[in-house]
Amino acid sequence: MTSHSEHEHSPVAEKGIAGFKADLWNYEGEKGALIPLLQSAQDAYGYVPESAIDYISEIVAIPAAEIYGVITFYSQFRLKPLGKYLIKVCDGTACHVNGAPKILTAVEDELQLTGGDTTDDGLFTIQKVACLGCCSLSPVIMINGETHGRLNAKKVQQLLKEYRNRHADQS
Ligand code: FES
Repeated sequence: MTSHSEHEHSPVAEKGIAGFKADLWNYEGEKGALIPLLQSAQDAYGYVPESAIDYISEIVAIPAAEIYGVITFYSQFRLKPLGKYLIKVCDGTACHVNGAPKILTAVEDELQLTGGDTTDDGLFTIQKVACLGCCSLSPVIMINGETHGRLNAKKVQQLLKEYRNRHADQS
C-alpha cells in the first residue's frame, strides 16, 4: 500500500452552497447558463439535488423536466450524493494491462454493489477513471485522494476493510 496523501478530505468541492447561490443570481435569465449552473451546484453539494434543480429552473426559465434530461445526458453530473469515500479505480493503459479489471471486480464484490455506483449505506462510491498519473504503481486505486498501488484482489479486500474500520472508529 502506498499513500501519497496523509490527509483524508471530502470529495465535495469547497465552493460552498453560498457560492452556488451567488452564481444563480449572476446568471439570472440566461438560458445558456444551464451547464455552468449545474456544475456550480455539483461543486457546492457534490451532486445536483432536487432543490438546486428547482432554483436553476426558475433562474434560467427552463422546465425542471428538461433539466433532468440534460443531467442524465452528461455523465459528469450526478443526482445522488457521493459516498463518504470516493474510490477511483484506474483503468488507464498500464493499470489495465496489470489487472485493473480484476481490481474493479474485487472492489465491486467487496462492496456488494447491487446496481449503481454507491453502497446502500452511503459509505463508498466507485468511479472508473483514466490514468491517475502513477503508472509505476499499477494497478492503482485512489480513495479520497490517497493512492494505493501494486494491488491484487486480496489487498483490495484488506484495504476496504481498513476504511470501514476507520469509519466505525470515527462514529
Ligand atoms: S494507468 Fe493507472 S496510474 Fe497510469
